[in-house]
Amino acid sequence: MSENFKVTIDNITVEVAPGTTILEAARKVGGAVAPPTMCYYSKLEGSGGKCRTCLVEVSKGSEKDPRPMPKLVASCRTTVMDGMEVKNITSEKVPDARAGVTEFLLLNHPLDCPVCDQAGECDLQDLGYEHGKEGTRTEFPRRTFAPEDIGPYIQLHMNRCILCYRCVYTAEQLTERREHGVLDRGEHSRISTCIKNSLDNEFIGNVIDVCPVGALTDKTFRFKNRVWFTKPLDAHRNCSNPNCCGEVRLWMRGDEVYRVTARKDEWGEVATASNGKTGWICNECRFDKKDTKDWVIEGPTNINRHSVISQGHYAGTEGTAGKAEKLIDKVIGQEPKYTLDIHSVSEVNKPSVHLDRIPGPAHSNDFK
Ligand code: SF4
Ligand code: FES
Repeated sequence: MSENFKVTIDNITVEVAPGTTILEAARKVGGAVAPPTMCYYSKLEGSGGKCRTCLVEVSKGSEKDPRPMPKLVASCRTTVMDGMEVKNITSEKVPDARAGVTEFLLLNHPLDCPVCDQAGECDLQDLGYEHGKEGTRTEFPRRTFAPEDIGPYIQLHMNRCILCYRCVYTAEQLTERREHGVLDRGEHSRISTCIKNSLDNEFIGNVIDVCPVGALTDKTFRFKNRVWFTKPLDAHRNCSNPNCCGEVRLWMRGDEVYRVTARKDEWGEVATASNGKTGWICNECRFDKKDTKDWVIEGPTNINRHSVISQGHYAGTEGTAGKAEKLIDKVIGQEPKYTLDIHSVSEVNKPSVHLDRIPGPAHSNDFK
């Protein structure tokens, strides 16, 4: 058995097996040390290397050859060497490069978050907030595509697609017959079924969960609610499909199930199910089981309290909201920043009114 490699990322050393990518090693460290990803998906073979969001600086190549790598590298496609030193959040170059990548990803992406179903759980929206610029330097009109009907379950908004290929790999690796792919080249590249096919394979709904933006959304949930007004609950059922794990997340409003999705892990990927397999779910569980009687409810989903979804206060959140605290406690190796106490700057909110305890969205009456 070959020896493990030691790799130091943002001053934290971990041991990983030879062949591990820098990204997977960084995920082992965890927290903000793990670079963001828009195309890599650990559960999809061949994914990664398309978006450049995961760029990192290799300041020392290896113990044997300590020269730094001349350019930033895609961490999802670069394997570690013994003694390698990598900078992500401690790098001076990475934030600038990531801002550039974000600008490129947004070149053709419509800024329609207020009407997009993915808003609130969109990787590109998060990336834009973290690394985006206030304005655009583009003078050209954005690319647009004629609407295409790809079947009864899934809505394609090609204008929002960033061509990450995740949905293509999902269809290829999960279903028996892939009916869509990336057509044409360069500026004209697009996701399409070519001959107006319908995406109706029994596992095709999983493309909705892997899409990092709002290019593929659930037709049964479309425009019905904003994700931060819904209450996520973990639930399961005894699904008759042997390839479906039957473990899902129900997105509720009141007693109504608005949406069913797979469960996601801390990296935003479909989580591992209790049987050890990847938690992909079938179309029947996703689109047809919209009654609480169909499910055994396990309890509220534990949502990171920094997520917009936790703002609805329905979900089980980690920690207590509203407390100013040092981010250094959470983010290893980074300069401390402070979360803003909204009450100190807002004349509308009153400290005596706890927004997180109001049932539903706040209303002007709540402040009287
Ligand atoms: S539709 Fe979504 S998952 Fe598919 S390539 Fe475009 S952005 Fe990626
Ligand atoms: S996540 Fe590495 S290139 Fe896209």
